[in-house]
Amino acid sequence: MKFHLTNVFLLLSLIIAPVLGKCKHPDVRREFRNLSSKERHRYAKAVNEVYRRGWVDNLTQNHFTSGRHVHGVPAFFPWHRQFIRDYESLLQKIDPGLTLPYWDWTLDSCDPSYSKIFNDDYMGGNGDPNSNYCLQDGPYKGWQMGIVDPHCLQRQFNMTQYWGPEVLLEVQNNSTVYSELHNRIEDTVHAAVHTSIGGDMAQMISPNDPIFFLHHAMVDKLWYDWQLMGKGRSRFREYNGVDSTRNNVTVKPSDPLPEYQFLRIEDVLDPRGGHLCYDYEENAARRSAIKLLNLYENNTPPRSLDETAHIISNDLGYPDVDINVLSPEEREMKVGSGNPDWWNRMNNLDSDRVHRHYLEASDIVGRLSKLPNFLSPAVVQLAYAKSHGFERQSGSAGSGGVPPPFQRATPVVDSAFIPVTTPVPGQTSGSSATRARAAAGGSGVATPANGNRSDSWSDDFFNDDNDDFEDIF
Ligand SMILES: *[C@@H]1O[C@H](CO)[C@@H](O)[C@H](O)[C@H]1NC(C)=O
Ligand SMILES: *[C@@H]1O[C@H](CO)[C@@H](O)[C@H](O)[C@H]1NC(C)=O
Ligand SMILES: *[C@@H]1O[C@H](CO)[C@@H](O)[C@H](O)[C@H]1NC(C)=O
Ligand SMILES: *[C@@H]1O[C@H](CO)[C@@H](O)[C@H](O)[C@H]1NC(C)=O
Ligand SMILES: *[C@@H]1O[C@H](CO)[C@@H](O)[C@H](O)[C@H]1NC(C)=O
Ligand SMILES: *[C@@H]1O[C@H](CO)[C@@H](O)[C@H](O)[C@H]1NC(C)=O
Ligand SMILES: *[C@@H]1O[C@H](CO)[C@@H](O)[C@H](O)[C@H]1NC(C)=O
Repeated sequence: MKFHLTNVFLLLSLIIAPVLGKCKHPDVRREFRNLSSKERHRYAKAVNEVYRRGWVDNLTQNHFTSGRHVHGVPAFFPWHRQFIRDYESLLQKIDPGLTLPYWDWTLDSCDPSYSKIFNDDYMGGNGDPNSNYCLQDGPYKGWQMGIVDPHCLQRQFNMTQYWGPEVLLEVQNNSTVYSELHNRIEDTVHAAVHTSIGGDMAQMISPNDPIFFLHHAMVDKLWYDWQLMGKGRSRFREYNGVDSTRNNVTVKPSDPLPEYQFLRIEDVLDPRGGHLCYDYEENAARRSAIKLLNLYENNTPPRSLDETAHIISNDLGYPDVDINVLSPEEREMKVGSGNPDWWNRMNNLDSDRVHRHYLEASDIVGRLSKLPNFLSPAVVQLAYAKSHGFERQSGSAGSGGVPPPFQRATPVVDSAFIPVTTPVPGQTSGSSATRARAAAGGSGVATPANGNRSDSWSDDFFNDDNDDFEDIF
């Protein structure tokens, strides 16, 4: 009798889990530059401790092994959402008050080499061309990586323009289904950030570089913002597209999350529900872009470039900036020319499709730049950086530019969804994965490693406060 009851609960919880989540106090992720210098140093300390304990190797190995099951396929967004949440949990083991920041690179899209993010007391800059492109400054200088082969943490800048906030906004707006958004983001601007930083970031071992997690928090936010743009909660259940690595099979929300034994895709579709429980602080660049586009739509465009700059810089929290420090070419937003072929190949991306998406983006920029006085929030950011004497980071790449080929440590098995279970240390049984779906062990109640019952949906469902269904309807 008891046995049957348990199974009924188990069954119910499996069905309801994804929508049940009661997440009252989500971790709020903030733009990296919005952290105080004290907070930044605290963050760097925890990141260094994760490295010191050898956990970066495990994370990178996981990303590397998961490789083709999670790139160039619809599972790209969901898998990375869980992966960076795992990282955030590791940081919180060291300093429970931390959340993962994101890097809003749309603010730097005009010329990322001016970005504050590459300053010495932020994430550090380019690698040293005279020293094998090893990272020589910032809080992570001198890191020695173990995966795949022993090497120093490398960066080899070859900066290109990224997409500005208004371009992303239109791409999000025009993507009516998940698969369109996924193709447009992974193929293009996501790749541009990786390849333009180069070194470890341009390979499957990219999680070696701590900037990976700031970048992917931004990528995750783009998906999340798109989900929020949907009607009601519909996009928090939406997942579709075809998986070219599995004979073009049509994917569905109940698919397993690749490489995570206990999770399904649907478990990670809603950051504020289920076991994830995080949110993002509102994004000033996005807010400015919306405001600006609305002004044009309502036929009340700003009357001068200065007025535009004034409107935007208020939003960005900068004092008024002198846009005259920008050359006419710099005021004009451009879009990078596309990913190198080796990148497309490494990530299962179809080069024609990538090219098409770059053309779409160029088209948006072309249209916007014809509007009188149109100025991207990214242009204002660049003007600010210049007029405040930010140093341009050395942006030149060395010879070749193509990162050296690397040896795979383990052969990648072709059949999909082989659970490799490369758990992050300390999370072997207590990970959010287990919390969300302890079904395989036969227990309906998830139990984290510390022996306490989970504070997420399972507790919520099993307690008697009768509010479980409020969250569903
Ligand atoms: C968003 O999409 C709708 C419908 O396609 C369109 O009418 C509107 O102009 C778009 N807005 C922007 C800012 O692209
Ligand atoms: C998958 O679809 C693409 C594009 O439609 C096609 O080029 C490819 O041959 C298909 N692959 C398989 C295995 O059916
Ligand atoms: C920075 O933080 C403040 C509050 O702490 C917030 O109002 C603002 O929107 C944030 N700026 C950005 C760029 O996210
Ligand atoms: C986005 O949608 C708008 C309005 O429907 C259209 O004018 C524009 O060309 C579309 N942009 C892209 C890149 O498809
Ligand atoms: C830098 O990137 C551009 C494309 O953005 C490419 O054409 C060029 O070859 C790259 N330079 C090096 C040295 O790799
Ligand atoms: C982490 O990586 C180390 C070295 O590669 C390995 O010995 C260890 O088993 C890994 N730990 C986990 C939990 O995967
Ligand atoms: C278990 O939960 C209790 C009450 O919330 C807490 O005091 C205790 O520290 C937790 N144990 C562990 C190992 O986290």
